[in-house]
Amino acid sequence: MSKLLLQSIRREPTPRRPLWIMRQAGRYLPEYRELRKAHSFKALSGNAELAREVTLMPMRRFPLDAAIVFADIMSPLPALGVDFDFDPGPVVANPIRDARGIAELQDPDPEKTAPEVIQALKLSRAELPDSTALLGFCGAPWTLAAYLVEGRGVREFPTLRAFAASEPDLLNDLLGKLTSLMLTYVKAQHAAGADAIQVFDSWAGLLSLTDWQQLIEPHLRRLLEGMGEADIPRIMFLQNAPHLVDAYAQLPAEVIAVDWRVDLPTLQRQCPERAVQGNIDPAILLGGAAATRASARRLLDDVSARGHIVNLGHGILPSTPIESVEALIEIVHEEQQ
Ligand code: CP3
Repeated sequence: MSKLLLQSIRREPTPRRPLWIMRQAGRYLPEYRELRKAHSFKALSGNAELAREVTLMPMRRFPLDAAIVFADIMSPLPALGVDFDFDPGPVVANPIRDARGIAELQDPDPEKTAPEVIQALKLSRAELPDSTALLGFCGAPWTLAAYLVEGRGVREFPTLRAFAASEPDLLNDLLGKLTSLMLTYVKAQHAAGADAIQVFDSWAGLLSLTDWQQLIEPHLRRLLEGMGEADIPRIMFLQNAPHLVDAYAQLPAEVIAVDWRVDLPTLQRQCPERAVQGNIDPAILLGGAAATRASARRLLDDVSARGHIVNLGHGILPSTPIESVEALIEIVHEEQQ
């Protein structure tokens, strides 16, 4: 049976639009919160059997069209010798801010690059119906560098932006190493059963267009081109970067995924050869089922169905009522009749 998500990625006609939700396996699910009482996030994502259980949790509750492997963008970084924890976001033990920090990064062993995530993909694939897609993912080199240089998620990442301005050659070295690691990692995910890969560039929007083009774009392009050569379907997600959407639309990816700040119908008209993904504001779901229904209906009215993958504009929020998720699914499934 063909997978709705892959058909939409290829811009083929579908009986209805596919739907999945960023962070669909997470704290808004009571069963996830229950499991988190016994295990830390690191323990859950570090164990393939537990990670499979969490990957499948939203699939057991909702008829979503794709599962996304339960891991973190930081998961492959131990292969470089990077030590970090979560509180609740990533906290890096020794932030990288000089030549020594970069020289001390280890040469990654492909076999030791997040083997638990690769195994979790295999275990999850074995339990999913053929019609359900399995997504792998990785962080964009810049978003990973943001945590490595700043040390943790900090509003507007000033240390990172100063580093980019004062040490462009070191940033270039760091992004090069991260790009190579991500390329190896996503190829292993694809071989383990991931039907497509989403590249998360959550902190895409921190630099000006000119600086982005000069410092970041060549690395992101190399990652996406390498994925294309390996025939891996690519979903490129950028967050909070409306000033860069036109530039991202030039990158090689089958799907461009955006947050709610971007007008999706306009983007769809600008990129007729690409699929688009998004982009309901996750905060709207906090407003309840009626607000969610109204917003979803407007999205389906305004964006043409061909090559549209329905999603939120960013991760689902922990306090989201389950009824709002059900309302979103209901509206998307109504299109089938
Ligand atoms: O989407 C999914 O369901 C798959 C799992 C997934 C997680 N992180 C699990 C997680 C994915 C795809 C990610 C990606 C990720 N991680 C991104 C890119 C997407 C985005 O949100 O912009 C980023 C920036 C991170 C870094 C990160 N990890 C942050 C900022 C946090 C804390 C904030 C939060 O949402 O709690 C984490 C921890 C994390 N990663 C949790 C989960 C479910 C929460 C852990 C917990 O306390 O249970």
